[in-house]
Amino acid sequence: MSDPLLKVTGLRGGYGGETVLQGVDLTIAPGEIVAVIGRNGVGKSTLMRTLTGLLKPSDGRILFNGRDMTSQSADARARGGVGYIPQGREVFPELTVRENLLVGEVAGQGRAKPDYDMVYRFFPILKDRSRQRAGTMSGGQQQQLAIARAMIGNPRLMLLDEPSEGIQPSIIKDIARNVRTLNQETGVAVLLVEQNLDLIVSLADRGHVMEKGRIVADLGFDEIRSRQEVRKHLTI
Ligand SMILES: Nc1ncnc2c1ncn2[C@@H]1O[C@H](COP(=O)(O)OP(=O)(O)OP(=O)(O)O)[C@@H](O)[C@H]1O
Ligand SMILES: [Mg+2]
Repeated sequence: MSDPLLKVTGLRGGYGGETVLQGVDLTIAPGEIVAVIGRNGVGKSTLMRTLTGLLKPSDGRILFNGRDMTSQSADARARGGVGYIPQGREVFPELTVRENLLVGEVAGQGRAKPDYDMVYRFFPILKDRSRQRAGTMSGGQQQQLAIARAMIGNPRLMLLDEPSEGIQPSIIKDIARNVRTLNQETGVAVLLVEQNLDLIVSLADRGHVMEKGRIVADLGFDEIRSRQEVRKHLTI
């Protein structure tokens, strides 16, 4: 494997006194799409928040692009190329589409010029709706906006937390296609947290299974494409 883009070792952390992550190891090469799958409440979003810098780890190391970013702020990580699309999307409902995208520009400052042409090529609806308030759009459109907001900062790694949640199956297919094309065109690596079988199987190159704050199994290319194999780790 080439030099990893992200290398996480022994990561522990959680909320106040409650430790959720019990020592997570994870490596992502440039351009890879890696899924973290697992049932509700196992710590997937906690892992994402700890990687963005929104939560401080109590132990472990996060190397990004060869540099230790364990104690960097969330802002510094975003400027360094870590894009985040939170679970539930969290677009600013009162701001317009265009204003939401402006927020994403901050992440790329000093590193890249915001490429609106590319964003609008992927998500033409965002151009048509640039003056619409984000909160008045459908779930699928808001998800596109959340992905676009991360893209505008030109990330090297996108942390994508359950993009399919609350979205109709036909739109889930669009999300998978868009993320795949983005990955191919820009080389952005993706860490995908998901519970939706179709999205996992159609998008990920490989995966990890999480249980109670630990990675308990690794799924290679053939396993992650097998509905039967993936389903085992999702159902109760
Ligand atoms: N803000 C918070 N404060 C305190 N505890 C939290 C907070 N958010 C999550 N937790 C707890 O941390 C644990 C892991 O939650 P987390 O949200 O990481 O799970 P998840 O795997 O993302 O679940 P889901 O698939 O439902 O999104 C759970 O026990 C949860 O109750
Ligand atoms: Mg979650």
